[in-house]
Amino acid sequence: MKRLSVLCSLLLVAAALGTELPLATPCDEEACKLPDCRCSSTNIPGGLRARDTPQFVTVTFDDGINVINIETYREVLYGRSNSNRCPAGATFYVSHEYTNYQLVNELYNRGFEIALHSISHRTPQAFWADATYQNLVQEIGDQKRQMAHFASIPASAIKGVRIPFLQMSGNTSFQVMADFDLLYDCTWPTTALTNPGLWPYTLHHESIQDCIIPPCPTASIPGPWVLPMISWRDLNNFPCSMVDGCFFTPDRTDEEGWFKFILTNFERHYLGNRAPFGFFVHEWFISSNPAIKRAFVRFMDIINNLNDVFMVNSAEVIDWVKNPVPIDRYRQQQCKFTMPSICRPSFCGPLTGTHNQLSYYMTICNTCPRNYPWVGNPLGQ
Ligand SMILES: *[C@@H]1O[C@H](CO)[C@@H](O)[C@H](O)[C@H]1NC(C)=O
Repeated sequence: MKRLSVLCSLLLVAAALGTELPLATPCDEEACKLPDCRCSSTNIPGGLRARDTPQFVTVTFDDGINVINIETYREVLYGRSNSNRCPAGATFYVSHEYTNYQLVNELYNRGFEIALHSISHRTPQAFWADATYQNLVQEIGDQKRQMAHFASIPASAIKGVRIPFLQMSGNTSFQVMADFDLLYDCTWPTTALTNPGLWPYTLHHESIQDCIIPPCPTASIPGPWVLPMISWRDLNNFPCSMVDGCFFTPDRTDEEGWFKFILTNFERHYLGNRAPFGFFVHEWFISSNPAIKRAFVRFMDIINNLNDVFMVNSAEVIDWVKNPVPIDRYRQQQCKFTMPSICRPSFCGPLTGTHNQLSYYMTICNTCPRNYPWVGNPLGQ
């Protein structure tokens, strides 16, 4: 099994090295049509009017899932529904180290989306900028299998990627995504295309998106979608990709100020071209700032009661863009269904990390591995 996967990786590398990727050419709307191709643009998919377009809100959290941060997720997310009575979504970009996979299984069974954020989340950031195809096969491609195995969830449910530090390596992560059947990337910030906002698109053709953290892809790579991280604006109009990265903000104890700050950013989308509105944040920022947590909860309480706003898993946004329907038809659709997936937990450890000789403990939904799973040995065999 391991030898087979090594062989597969080698074949993929050979395929990647053997052919230089074609440079993307300017997008031709006539040649690039939904559901599988979309030019990068701020046009609303399907030519809908803004008032007929569902305003999607994507709440996302990054990094490991553990017994501490799950408390916040349970408190602020569980039991929420949108106005169409479908459960509200959120997406977790999970890194492997110190993740408790029993809790990943719990989030999955609650209908939330589990996505990839690398096995190691290693520093320095330059590692990701310079990452080779093989590096990213081991960090992202292999993580899909690892996540499915330890959290006992279907590999087909794992669709999204966010690279650590929002640091892309040009074409490479998208090539890996195409080869490992991953649907979309949510790593690429835009500060230029925020009002009106950039809608998700594919990389068949040249992207019009500004490259904030180079290198960005320039090849034609059919397959994966880009779900742009549309920046917020702070109180001095400086852009920020992650909410916890905004600089000039209301005081962290000012609930009312934060509530208005969130709404102001939301309204740029809601009263504009309704490009998906992202609330991209780390759990520590919410749990260590109770006033911001209350403001965030108030914001969700409001949007969960608006008839044209839907807090969804990020992959659901891509599903809608591929097949855009107006709000009234969207509201009639059935809610997404998650087939329950049982976790029989094993508490494993101490397991030695063969890369650093540290002892690790893991809670997983499978039999315990021999070694601590890591880059190059994702199942810890
Ligand atoms: C991406 O691929 C294009 C086309 O082959 C190439 O010109 C470009 O240099 C590549 N980008 C990086 C960062 O390697």
